[in-house]
Amino acid sequence: MKKTVQLYEGKAKKVFSTDDPNLVIVSYKDDATAFDGTKRGTITGKGAINNQMSNFLMQKLEQAGVPTHYVQELNERETVVKKVSIVPLEVIVRNLSAGSFAKRYGVEEGIIFDAPTVEFSYKNDDLHDPLINDHHAVALKLATWDEIDAIQKYALQVNDFLKRELLACGVTLVDFKLEFGKTADGSLVLADEISPDTCRFWDSKTGEKLDKDRFRRDLGNVEGAYQEMSRRLLGK
Ligand code: TMP
Ligand code: ASP
Repeated sequence: MKKTVQLYEGKAKKVFSTDDPNLVIVSYKDDATAFDGTKRGTITGKGAINNQMSNFLMQKLEQAGVPTHYVQELNERETVVKKVSIVPLEVIVRNLSAGSFAKRYGVEEGIIFDAPTVEFSYKNDDLHDPLINDHHAVALKLATWDEIDAIQKYALQVNDFLKRELLACGVTLVDFKLEFGKTADGSLVLADEISPDTCRFWDSKTGEKLDKDRFRRDLGNVEGAYQEMSRRLLGK
């Protein structure tokens, strides 16, 4: 599989076309941004870790019945995935209070919910990804009701799977963000990535943060947290 032209460069990844119109190659960068790109930096080794962790988890999710964009890992940083049009919704699942949830509702971080919550943000940088409900998403034709139902079902399936997988590595899954896409034939698949950039991981015993919050909040040892998650999940 050969890269032809660069189609897109995002904050954390580049996307290239290939000789197959239904496949693209994603290339993960070490660049890190936060707060709508106003905070910028580099997390050395992040691209390789996120690529490999996301591929490992997506392959397992496929086996568990969640369709994904994953096709084939090419090397440390690059993966062939199905070409999709992204549904412009960030799908956020939370098991504990943290981040914008804690801020919005004026509560501390770390409250354990009786059941996971699902929320959507409208993926739109100019509007700063505002929170949106399902009715509004359908009214704006961002997704159909059938797609919203399938997205919620898959998101909760991903949560069940990830929670279990991480618990076995001594990690509490606090929350995470997913994105879904539609392939040329209209089928819905899990896309983007599942990594310390897009999830909150807390050490189950100590509560130590092992994710991008170390970068967002200037907590130090950012690279160390990504390496620790790679060691625990991938054994390397
Ligand atoms: P939040 O608490 O800031 O809303 O974040 C919820 C989850 O979504 C958290 O695991 C981090 C992830 N996330 C992203 O992947 N991209 C983003 O742009 C933001 C703001 C959060
Ligand atoms: N997507 C965010 C940004 O760069 C990064 C984050 O907080 O995860 O704006």
